Amino acid sequence: MRLDVFFTPAELPATLSDRTVVVIDVLRATSTMVEALANGAKNIFAVATTDEAVKIAQGIGRDETLLAGERNCVRIEGFDLGNSPLEMTPEKVGGRQLIMTTTNGTAALAAATSARRVLVASLLNVDAVARELAEGDEEITLLCAGREKRFALEDAICAGTLALRLYKQLGQRRNWSDAALAAAQLARRYLPSVERTLRRVAAGRQLLELGFTTDVAFCAQLSIHDIVPKYRDRQVAL
Ligand code: MLT
Repeated sequence: MRLDVFFTPAELPATLSDRTVVVIDVLRATSTMVEALANGAKNIFAVATTDEAVKIAQGIGRDETLLAGERNCVRIEGFDLGNSPLEMTPEKVGGRQLIMTTTNGTAALAAATSARRVLVASLLNVDAVARELAEGDEEITLLCAGREKRFALEDAICAGTLALRLYKQLGQRRNWSDAALAAAQLARRYLPSVERTLRRVAAGRQLLELGFTTDVAFCAQLSIHDIVPKYRDRQVAL
């Protein structure tokens, strides 16, 4: 198995068709998607722009869908939900189709579209994703959404945690890239104090300033969900 990590979508190679890509945006897009699906959401259209989201909602029927998403971490005007995992309760999202757009997370999914397979990971479902990857994929790429096109430590920690879990299950790291080795070291260093670390990173500080303190603590939880969402035809579903 070859394991690679990209710390931002800009690093992705032109062709992904032979790879399984795992998209990670711990604060908060992929955490929110995992929570929504764990709480019964039917599927999530993940799109890059607000216009696209509104157009899809109109196509399906506004009453049939929930529009979710943020710009600058705040709910988009006219949308039903923001990008908080805590909003994704069974009462609100159970059985519903969501259409979601976020600044970094849904853009990272869009960047992975041409991959053979795209999985969605966060700390909330890290063990389930590692188990699925260990079942035999040859070319694995862990794609960190990053923040505003730059490195985001929380995504690197999640990528490194996946790498460490894979190592534990497969017992070899011969074909790891330098970035995969580095991410694993970051996970070793920061995972024991991950909640504190999430409060200190740039995205965490921005969320704390806006009052999303509980979101940051929520996204720091390890493997509370045993699910592996997949992204296909612009939709994330189980
Ligand atoms: C994003 O996708 O840019 C983030 O999840 C932003 C946020 O925390 O709302």
